[in-house]
Amino acid sequence: ITAPVIAIDGPSASGKGTVAERVAAALGYHYLDSGSLYRLTALAAVRAGVALDDEVGVAELAAGLPASFVGGRILLSDDDVTDAIRTEEISAGASKVAALPTVRAALLARQRAYRRFPGLVADGRDMASVVFPDAAAKVFLTASAEARAERRYKQLIAKGMPANMHALLQDLQERDARDAQRSVAPLKQCDDAVLVDTTPLGIDEAVAAVMAIVKRQS
Ligand code: C5P
Repeated sequence: ITAPVIAIDGPSASGKGTVAERVAAALGYHYLDSGSLYRLTALAAVRAGVALDDEVGVAELAAGLPASFVGGRILLSDDDVTDAIRTEEISAGASKVAALPTVRAALLARQRAYRRFPGLVADGRDMASVVFPDAAAKVFLTASAEARAERRYKQLIAKGMPANMHALLQDLQERDARDAQRSVAPLKQCDDAVLVDTTPLGIDEAVAAVMAIVKRQS
């Protein structure tokens, strides 16, 4: 028998990361932020001077990522890159390297290795469709592009970082289009996933909605 997986997929800034972490904590499960692996790959490529469309070079970096997750921090070798992987530049870079089939293949086994008892909550774009097709519960978490851009805007302002609502909305829509239109593992709702639209929901309500689905499906 294998450990149960709760798959939470959705577009960028839909709140799936926060919701997934909270659901994992409530269930006492492990948590996988699969997007961070694509972000780490993009950062490693930028730092190594490897072009983001160099299929072979970027896949090699993805296969050997010296990444570790320690107490909520994300490390690349000994370097704390928790904030460095969240910049707009790396967000765009992640969605570029994520379109390369060789990169997705290189990260597949690493993602599946997170499946351990008592269970795993995994968030991303293809958790339900590709990485954990046998997930016990599948959720597609989304929100309108405007609501997502506004959340991201508030996060940046709260961190004292510069933010431009119009530019954020445009970046988000570009990334959504790239994620939805790529030929491998495009972002889409699986037939057996339950839709949660968080546009009108606060974080507690979104967590409660997902917990209700988990209880019903698994
Ligand atoms: O979820 P997050 O925004 O951190 O993901 C960053 C990028 O990584 C996404 O824009 C997407 O292109 C890619 N990604 C993916 N498959 C996943 C998770 C993320 O293609 N499972």
